[in-house]
Amino acid sequence: MSELQGVLVSTFEELYVALVRPVKPPLLTVSEAKALDARQTEALHCKHINPAQYHFFRLLGFHDIVVERAEGVHYVDRSGRRILDFFGGFGTMALGHNHPRLLEVRRIHDEEQRHEMDFLLPSRYAAAFSAGLAAIAPGDLDLVFLGSTGSEAVEAALKLAELVQGPERSTVVYTEKSFHGKTRAALSVSDSKKYQASARLLPNRRRVPFGDIAALEAMIRSDRSIGAVILETIQGGAGIVLPPDGYFRQLRALCDQHQVLWIADEIQSGMGRTGRFFAFEHEDVVPDAVVLAKALGGGKTAISAMITRAQHFQKVYGTPRTALIQGPSTFSGWGGPCCIALEALHVLYDDDLIGNAERMGAYLLARLEALKVRYPRLVKEVRGRGLFIGFELADVSQTLPLPLRVLVSGLDERLRGSLSGFVGALLLQRHGVLVGFTDYNRNVLRLEPPLIVDEGHCDQVVAALDDVLSSGLSGIITDYAARFLRSSR
Ligand SMILES: Cc1ncc(COP(=O)(O)O)c(C=O)c1O
Repeated sequence: MSELQGVLVSTFEELYVALVRPVKPPLLTVSEAKALDARQTEALHCKHINPAQYHFFRLLGFHDIVVERAEGVHYVDRSGRRILDFFGGFGTMALGHNHPRLLEVRRIHDEEQRHEMDFLLPSRYAAAFSAGLAAIAPGDLDLVFLGSTGSEAVEAALKLAELVQGPERSTVVYTEKSFHGKTRAALSVSDSKKYQASARLLPNRRRVPFGDIAALEAMIRSDRSIGAVILETIQGGAGIVLPPDGYFRQLRALCDQHQVLWIADEIQSGMGRTGRFFAFEHEDVVPDAVVLAKALGGGKTAISAMITRAQHFQKVYGTPRTALIQGPSTFSGWGGPCCIALEALHVLYDDDLIGNAERMGAYLLARLEALKVRYPRLVKEVRGRGLFIGFELADVSQTLPLPLRVLVSGLDERLRGSLSGFVGALLLQRHGVLVGFTDYNRNVLRLEPPLIVDEGHCDQVVAALDDVLSSGLSGIITDYAARFLRSSR
C-alpha cells in the first residue's frame, strides 16, 4: 500500500468512527453497578424499573439493604450483617443460596464452553433433566415442557387442557384467592381483581371456593363445558391455606368420573417443600398435569416445567404437524439451566432435604404453636405443611385503641390493620430475620426458608418473634412507627 493509500484508509477509518459507528451510550460497567449504594440503586430503580415498588421496600425496611453476597440460609449485606432468610424468595431458595454443588456444575459447564439450545439442536442436558423429572413424578406424568417462568408453565398447562378437551369443554375452574401468575391465561385463573386490573381475560372460567369438594362437584355436574380445574395444592398468596385432608383423593375421583383434567400448581409447594416432592403425593394421587418453577432451578437459574401424562401430550402435540404448537420457546431447555436444575434434583435427594423439610417443618410448627399459646391476643393461627408455613397475626384493624389508631393513620394505609407488616419489619431491623407476607391475607407472615435449615435456625426465628411479640401491641406499633419516621426523614 502506498503512503497516500495508507493515509486515505486511516482517514476513512477515523471518519467511520467519528460519523457512522454507533456511539456507545453512557453504560455503567459491571463493577460500577456493584459499587452502587442503596440510594443510588433506589434512584435508578425508581427512574427505570418501577418507581412505586420502592414504596413497599421502604415500608418494610428493605430499601436500605445492599446484598453483598448470599450463602446457605443467609444474605450478607455490605456492612457484613448476616440476614437469616426465612422468606426464601417465595420458596425459590429450597437448596439455600449458592449451593456449592450447583456452583461447581455451572463452573465446569462454563469452563468447557458448553452450550446447547434445545429448540435448535438437541440438548443432552434437557433430555436428561426431563427424564429425571419424569422419574420423580408419579404415575405416567412423563412428558415435560420446559420454560423459564412459572406463568409460562401455567400457560402451557391451560393450553394443553383446552386442546385435549376441545372447544366444547374449554371452561376452566379455578379457586377463590388463587394465584397462578400474571401472564394473560394465568392471570385469568388468578383470583385477584387488583392484578387483573382492567386487562381482558379468558372468557371461559368459573370460580369455586378452595378446598370445597361439594361446591366443585355441583359446578362440574351442572356445566358440561368444564374441561379442567386448576389449583395450587397449598394456596400461598391466600395465606398458606391447606384444603381438608382427603380433598385431593376426592378431586381425583371427581375428575375421573367427569373426564375433567386436574392441573396441580406446585410452583411453590413442589420440589420437596412440604415433605414430599409434590404436595399432592401426601394423598397418593396423580394429577393430569403439574407445573413447577421457583425452586426447580436450585436458586441459581430460571427454569420451569409443565409435566403431563403422555396420553394428553400425544393427543395434541404428537404429530409432526402439531409438534411445534406449544414448544419449544427460545429459552426452553437450554443446556446450562438444565445442568444446574439436574444437579439440584440430585442434591435434594443426596442431602435428604425433603426429609429435612418434613422434620424441621414439624419442629418449627410446634414451636410457633407455643408462641400462639403465649400470645393469644396477637397470634391468630399457625398452619402449614413441612416448611411452607403461615403465621397469622390478629386482625387489629377495628380494635386499635385511639392513640395507636392516630399513630398508624400517619402510616401507609396498607399497613394500618396489618400487624404482619410491623412485625416483619421489626424482625428484620431488630433481629436480622427476613420473612415474607401473603398477598390476599395481609395478617400472615410467610415462612418458606431453604430446606437446609436446622433447629438452630428455627430457634433463632422463634426467639426473634418472641422478642417482637413480647413488646405487645403498642410496643410493636410505636417501635415500628419510630423507625419508619426516622428512616423517611
Ligand atoms: C403458585 C404460583 N403459581 C404461579 C406463579 C407464577 O410464577 P412466575 O412469577 O415465575 O411467573 C407463582 C409465582 O409466585 C406462584 O406462586
